[in-house]
Amino acid sequence: MSSNGNASGEVFYPPEHIIRQANQPDYDAIHQAMLDDLAGTWGAIARDEFEWFKPWDKTLDDSEAPFYKWFVGGKVNIVHNALDRHTQTWRRNKVALLWEGEKYEQRSYTYHQLEREVCRFASVLRAMGVNKGDRVTIYMGRIPEIVIAMLACAKIGAVHSVVYGGFSVEALHGRIEDSQSKVAITADGAWLRGNIVPLKEIMDEALQRAPTVQTVIVVKRTGQDIHMEPGRDLWYHDLMNLPIAETCIPTEAVDAEDPLFLLYTSGTTGKPKAILHTHGGYMVGVATTLKWVFDLKEEDTWWCAADPGWITGHSYIVYGPLLLGATSVMYEGAPNHPFPDRWWDVVERHGVTVLYTAPTAIRGLMRFGDAWPNRHDLSSLRLLGSVGEPINPEAWKWYYRVIGKEQCPIMDTWWQTETGGFMITPLPSTPLKPGSATRPFPGVVVDVLDEDGSPVGPNEEGYLVIKTPWPAMLRTVYGDPDRYVEQYWSRFPGMYMTGDSARRDEDGYIWVIGRVDDVIKVSGYRLGTAEIESALVSHPSVAEAAVIGVPDEVRGSVIQAYCILVAGMEPTQRLVEILRDHVAHEVGPIAKPASIEFVDALPKTRSGKIMRRVLKARALGQDEGDLSTLEQ
Ligand code: WT7
Repeated sequence: MSSNGNASGEVFYPPEHIIRQANQPDYDAIHQAMLDDLAGTWGAIARDEFEWFKPWDKTLDDSEAPFYKWFVGGKVNIVHNALDRHTQTWRRNKVALLWEGEKYEQRSYTYHQLEREVCRFASVLRAMGVNKGDRVTIYMGRIPEIVIAMLACAKIGAVHSVVYGGFSVEALHGRIEDSQSKVAITADGAWLRGNIVPLKEIMDEALQRAPTVQTVIVVKRTGQDIHMEPGRDLWYHDLMNLPIAETCIPTEAVDAEDPLFLLYTSGTTGKPKAILHTHGGYMVGVATTLKWVFDLKEEDTWWCAADPGWITGHSYIVYGPLLLGATSVMYEGAPNHPFPDRWWDVVERHGVTVLYTAPTAIRGLMRFGDAWPNRHDLSSLRLLGSVGEPINPEAWKWYYRVIGKEQCPIMDTWWQTETGGFMITPLPSTPLKPGSATRPFPGVVVDVLDEDGSPVGPNEEGYLVIKTPWPAMLRTVYGDPDRYVEQYWSRFPGMYMTGDSARRDEDGYIWVIGRVDDVIKVSGYRLGTAEIESALVSHPSVAEAAVIGVPDEVRGSVIQAYCILVAGMEPTQRLVEILRDHVAHEVGPIAKPASIEFVDALPKTRSGKIMRRVLKARALGQDEGDLSTLEQ
């Protein structure tokens, strides 16, 4: 194997026993089978591994591409496959969800218990007037009720729209308004490092701006006094104790192509867009990727340490592991609370066998030194995973050596909200190069293109595109099909544009470099420049704003903002603090700029578009590149 991909050229080969027990040991054979007959191969998996209420007529319909459809005419429900069917087997009484609170409380739900809770809440939602196709906004911390709420929506064919609990007023408002939810589910608060995030208060403020919501269901978590709006707000525990909360209701048979959820994510310009995923294809894609990449078996205790409010949590805390009948661990709090070994403590006490997290978390924990993990028995671990941004080789090696004891291959999975599941990723048998997500998942064809759409040579940087459809792909941008076509399928016709740049080395290994659009990854969280800029200009002192991402050792990148003040405003340090807090209040603490600079002008094109590229080059002391379109 050649060594040009990474500086040191190191290759790590998986231990023999890992290859021997892999669910999918032969990458070349299955990849080729998919390339020879994509629909046929996925069709066989869908038929053999899942239960359908009615078989589909056509596995892949590309007649209206890029509006691809999978398993057309099939009747299914992801909840039937993630819960109901397990309760008909020995898995009924095994733990489905293992939860640990930040204050060390523990709750576990067997498949049987989780199914009953989901039935009860599904019948509550029905009683609240939620019907098939209705959108329900869910805004909560990492507590079991978020999983119950998501599954309850899906069970009755309603469409969940989870908003990450770290988002704040305007971000929440925009997402409620766009989805036109009539019902919202939240909690009184969430615990974070011993402090309370006032979720209900934020919801109340968002709802003053978004009047579509008629009912708010509130889970009691933190227990402080909160305002309950008469006629609108109801306690979850009260509803769940009413006779309407039936423990056994049928799961709705929906079309494979019926919507399962919306998840908002930021793109190139404008407001965040609602990515739409469906029951059938998403179910097949998510379960199969998890089964092959992380070798997940029903005896595994899997911990995806993400938040359910992002796609990682949707696919790999909630749906994927339950579809496979595994045990999914969810931990409520911060990785370093109360001490920097909290995560390693969770791994040890619960006997976690596969751990999946983000480079930013690894770098953050690495800073505390080896003594914290070394204090724990981590020998239950078999495989490790990484997601969210490129992992730097230093963090990769620390993770490999100190956490995995050189026995656990690291699955560096590249994917997106839009792709639903893993797209470029090793399998357990793949030789690894630290920093590369290695090769496309079986059946996925990727390419790296130049400006004109021609493939670039080995190790040259270009646009990363996907050339084949896949079952868990997004179906559209909810309410805006033109934007779906425009954003993803127009730059290079017939190909899915990822928004990332990448290199491919001579072994065919992909090295993702980063976003080429106006998306900034802060601690692996995906933020759009537009959302942060509009929060800044919503403050009365700011006339114009531009934000860029600049590199940061732990968080990958952080936000740097440039503001033009309204005439007469003083550019004081105090105003910097006010504006930073304002962004945190409107969008969320993750979007808070690390620094704000007051400027008299912003570099713009003659048509008035801000040239963030120029700001970034200046901030990093680099060449500003082609300035021919800059307005002088
Ligand atoms: C963007 C998608 C999908 C789960 C979390 C993120 C970046 C994601 C990797 C990786 C390099 C990665 C890309 C991508 N990204 N995983 N393993 N190596 N970059 O989902 O919030 O939709 O973000 O995250 O830039 O486009 P998302």
